Amino acid sequence: MATNIVWHDHKVARSERAANKFQKPCLLWFTGLSGSGKSTVANALDVALHQRGYHTFLLDGDNVRHGLCKDLGFCSEDRVENIRRIGEVSKLFADAGLIVISAFISPFASDRELVRELFPSGEFIEVFIETPLATCEARDPKGLYQKARAGHLRDFTGIDSPYEAPANPELRLDTSVLSVDECVHRLIDYLTERALLTRSN
Ligand code: ADX
Repeated sequence: MATNIVWHDHKVARSERAANKFQKPCLLWFTGLSGSGKSTVANALDVALHQRGYHTFLLDGDNVRHGLCKDLGFCSEDRVENIRRIGEVSKLFADAGLIVISAFISPFASDRELVRELFPSGEFIEVFIETPLATCEARDPKGLYQKARAGHLRDFTGIDSPYEAPANPELRLDTSVLSVDECVHRLIDYLTERALLTRSN
């Protein structure tokens, strides 16, 4: 760990950066099993907000693991480090004034709480994509559940690695009963009700 490091305050405050964009920074943290619909709903929300003129940024497990986290696997320690890095990166984007949308399994409640603590109250929005395991497994878009059941893939979340469901998420969305559009409407309603979207058009 580095020593003799002093924090420098920025001259432009995060609120000033955000005000230029007619939005308030926040992090929508999607958590749920592989195949639950996190990336699909996160992308659809990203499109909907972008079309309304908001400045968003999407961080997605499968993509981030190609770069920032390509040295990490799926043992518990690596998943903890994965989420720690994503939390810090999300905070930087929020400090830049953006609405950040992240989609990671993030199976451990304590890791999600650590990310929540990086944000001012009300700016960390935990979105539990609570699609049941049976549905995720039936969808199996990447064929990974089949591999895990056959014993060809170890530490697979929901099969031989745990998923700790959020106890008090800000939002719950089950894509086995809600359409993607319905999920996006609920998310936009949530953001609007909390005055996080302030553009008048
Ligand atoms: S997390 O647990 O560390 O939050 P993350 O969201 O980054 O996971 O990555 C999950 C994606 O990696 C899954 O959607 C899946 O495509 C792929 N993957 C590969 N191996 C595993 C595994 N053992 N468990 C879960 N996902 C896996």
